[in-house]
Amino acid sequence: MTHRMIIDTDTAADDSFALLVGLLHPEAQLEAITIVAGNVSFDQQVENALITIAAAGRAGEVPVHLGARVPMLRKWHAAGAHGDGKGNHDFPQPTQRPSEEGAAEALVRIVDENPGEIDIVAIGPLTNIATAVLLDRGFASKVRQLWIMGGCDNSIGNVTAAAEYNFYVDPEAADIILSAGFDATIVTWTLTVTQALWDREQLAAIAAIDNDLARFFTILDTPNLEYNEGVALMGSTHPDSMTAMLLVRPDLIRGSSRKFVAVETRGELSRGYSLFDDRPERNAPNATVIDEVDALGFWRAYVELLTAGPRG
Ligand code: RIB
Ligand code: CA
Repeated sequence: MTHRMIIDTDTAADDSFALLVGLLHPEAQLEAITIVAGNVSFDQQVENALITIAAAGRAGEVPVHLGARVPMLRKWHAAGAHGDGKGNHDFPQPTQRPSEEGAAEALVRIVDENPGEIDIVAIGPLTNIATAVLLDRGFASKVRQLWIMGGCDNSIGNVTAAAEYNFYVDPEAADIILSAGFDATIVTWTLTVTQALWDREQLAAIAAIDNDLARFFTILDTPNLEYNEGVALMGSTHPDSMTAMLLVRPDLIRGSSRKFVAVETRGELSRGYSLFDDRPERNAPNATVIDEVDALGFWRAYVELLTAGPRG
């Protein structure tokens, strides 16, 4: 099945690797990219997305729409785990420029023009998606599936002990999304640290593909690998590309469950904490949570993507 999708991203490293899934995978039809405040400076994220489109050989083919430069209520909080998000490397200036149409407006328009046909892959803070919900109260009902990278399922966070970064940066947006009625699937940081952590041996095998895309991957991935090893995570983490890959390769999913998921917006210490409750008698489930994947199969699928290279 070809998935027509929009990827909403705070483009840095692992986000770029998710964009490559949308740009290159034969089961993906990437309709648009929307940029949201997150990992690194907003303008840097825009350039990183344009550079990634060019690296995939698709310059000018997928529009890039600019969204929220800050979270809904909170101050912007950089992730700090990616450098400038493009490996601190000077790539050629992309020829493509961003669209004049804003991100939330594009999300609302594309979904309204194609009700029930567009999947949204949200791999940054949820500010743009929440803005689209506020612009069009019927938005959630017209989106086919919303795939969210975010939260910790009863495990320790990555930005604070309580919270995962995407939910921490804009907890109010996450709260709006989780009560908006989307057919939502959530890929967590909890899953990432065990199922999408690629060690140096796996990364060496990617480098050994020895083509432009593999070199692009290695350049972008290195700062995250070095950051992670500094915090005893022995490899680079790939939550965003796992989220995008599971959408186009559902055969890689080994287990999922319906859970009630909510995000803390009032606490200080608990800001962005994500409650994952699998007791339907307590709270009706509002999301499908991916609990287990074929981790080796995911890595192999990504190796195949880079090996195949740009579409003919
Ligand atoms: O917590 C991981 C998430 O935060 C990923 O999407 C990463 O890109 C950062 O945005
Ligand atoms: Ca991201």
